[in-house]
Amino acid sequence: TLVLADHDAIAREVANRIDALIRERQAAGQRTVLGLATGSTPIGVYRELIRRHRDEGLSFRDVVTFNLDEYYPMAKDSIHSYHRYMWENLFAHIDIDPKNVHIPPGDIPREEVSEACAEYEAEIRRMGGIDFQLLGIGKTGHIGFNEPGSGADSRTRLVHLDNITRKDAAADFFGEENVPREAVTMGVATILDAKEIAILATGEHKAAIVRRAVEGEIDHAVAATFLQRHPATTFFVDEPAAADL
Ligand code: GLP
Repeated sequence: TLVLADHDAIAREVANRIDALIRERQAAGQRTVLGLATGSTPIGVYRELIRRHRDEGLSFRDVVTFNLDEYYPMAKDSIHSYHRYMWENLFAHIDIDPKNVHIPPGDIPREEVSEACAEYEAEIRRMGGIDFQLLGIGKTGHIGFNEPGSGADSRTRLVHLDNITRKDAAADFFGEENVPREAVTMGVATILDAKEIAILATGEHKAAIVRRAVEGEIDHAVAATFLQRHPATTFFVDEPAAADL
């Protein structure tokens, strides 16, 4: 666990690691596969990556991305979609090839979802697996949308959102009744397959769940506890989020 002063310090530190990884792999003629997250926590990391692209020659030409999750159902161009979030907060500002961007589908018919999830997993494997996975943490301890009850062997699938998660999203959706009830998310096993993981949490409202994730018993009531079994996971927290550790 790395405790840093604030959101900006975390953003710089994590962007620095991603920058170094991309350049190192580029020098070796290899692509970098990034697993990306949404929410307010990773915004600073994306801002810092955009700055490095603009000012320091960091190129994303050889970068392939897989996002963790998307609401279901959700149109790509909706202001609430994670597709739109990713394009607005990162992809539109860097030189990534749109063909290299992968985000779970929120806009396909229900009967096509399970096949699309299997294909998402297959594409991650074809790309050689995720080199670096960025994560936030929800109040229920979810990573991606792996709510309480998600097993260590879960894979990309359609899930029901927890009521706490829907309440947390209510303001963004102008009312809880507008928050989708389901989402498509990478599973816990998909996430744990990543070679390196950075999980970020800022603010006092995350202190209790950070403590549970870092120090609590490993158990499917809190999906983030499974990260304790991963050999290369770093928790990046600011002082308020680290208050209960
Ligand atoms: C959503 C996302 C998660 C994210 C969580 C926390 O539920 N699906 O991936 O970690 O929100 O969001 P925030 O970073 O805004 O606190």
